[in-house]
Amino acid sequence: MPTLLVTGGAGFIGSHLVRYWLKVHPDWKVIVYDKLTYAGSLDNIRDLQCDRRLTFVKGDIADRDRLEPVFQESDLIVNLAAETHVDRSLMEPEAFLRTDLIGLCVLLKLLRQHPDKKLIHVSTDEVYGTVECGRADEDAALRPTSPYSASKAGADLLALAYYKSFGVPVIITRCCNNFGPYQYPEKFLPLMITNALLDLPLPIYGDGRQIREWIYVEDHCRALDHIGQRGEIGETYNIATGYERENIEMARRILQILNKPESLLRFVADRPGHDRRYALNWTKLAKLGWSPLFSLDDALQRTVDFYVRNREWWMKIRTSREFQTYYEANYGWRFDDSSSAVV
Ligand code: NAD
Ligand code: TYD
Repeated sequence: MPTLLVTGGAGFIGSHLVRYWLKVHPDWKVIVYDKLTYAGSLDNIRDLQCDRRLTFVKGDIADRDRLEPVFQESDLIVNLAAETHVDRSLMEPEAFLRTDLIGLCVLLKLLRQHPDKKLIHVSTDEVYGTVECGRADEDAALRPTSPYSASKAGADLLALAYYKSFGVPVIITRCCNNFGPYQYPEKFLPLMITNALLDLPLPIYGDGRQIREWIYVEDHCRALDHIGQRGEIGETYNIATGYERENIEMARRILQILNKPESLLRFVADRPGHDRRYALNWTKLAKLGWSPLFSLDDALQRTVDFYVRNREWWMKIRTSREFQTYYEANYGWRFDDSSSAVV
């Protein structure tokens, strides 16, 4: 049986990729290798626990000795293990460098030793920095502006260096902002949705007119599968949709769907170095025959429905010590016993 290794498979996108793969490729085994940081949880793949094709191994991608036997067992590796929150990277960049950059270095060295495998390294549109006008294609300059995107950009360059020097079978993907079920509620959309469900203010950074391009997480997973099958080794592929929206518009839309008042919107201090706009040119991927299936409206509705129906999943996170300490220390929120917060 061919085997897919998903590093970071207990996180948001990773858990969806595992679910998607087991459904679409009945003849494959899947191994999840994950450190289970604050952002990863077996709760995210609990619905798959009875599937005998799925194995879980707890481990750090920067730990070569632990990773190697798992790596050897697999045919295709999709690297989704990362520290991912820009705001945290501004406060504690070291973990980002260790996982996002050194972790990939460990994977690349293993790949060099085992060139019969293929690695898809999942990167982000944030490596291009802010895109004032037009759309960044894969050859655009990398101008990262946060420790998160700087670590990701460094990793991309390292992957390309390994390809150029040793011909290792690696493909890089750069995707726009994902959303959907099981996204940790520190990220913009799940934070807005869960705050609205708790009747708490929705913190909008700066003027709220920053633009992000949005993709439903399942479309991202389909793109990774597509690129795994049809993409060329050594190439980079942007993954995007054209669904560009201002943050304030997305927040308003969520309030509308939940039938909550706009008085919940709260403009707060801007993020340092906040990128104004991300926008990708994804013609190269479209030429391989991929396009998004979900409309923005449909995907938003599905996402909100998930958070409405799965309160237990996100309340477990929001009442955790990790979540509350982070918001108390950095944003001055106060939590009471029922986990309501004052922003
Ligand atoms: P996430 O934070 O939800 O999940 C990351 C997962 O990696 C968690 O399960 C965590 O436990 C695990 N992890 C962290 N450090 C690890 C380590 N050292 N070893 C092993 N596992 C470790 O992140 P996500 O949103 O699912 O993002 C996954 C990848 O996709 C990241 O590389 C990110 O840069 C990229 N990406 C994300 C988006 C987005 O909008 N979420 C967009 C483009 C690209
Ligand atoms: P985020 O989900 O952190 O993704 P990224 O910064 O990686 O694109 O944020 C998405 C956008 O939402 C970004 O412009 C910052 C903004 N934002 C807020 O306005 N308020 C918030 O509380 C958060 C977390 C983000």
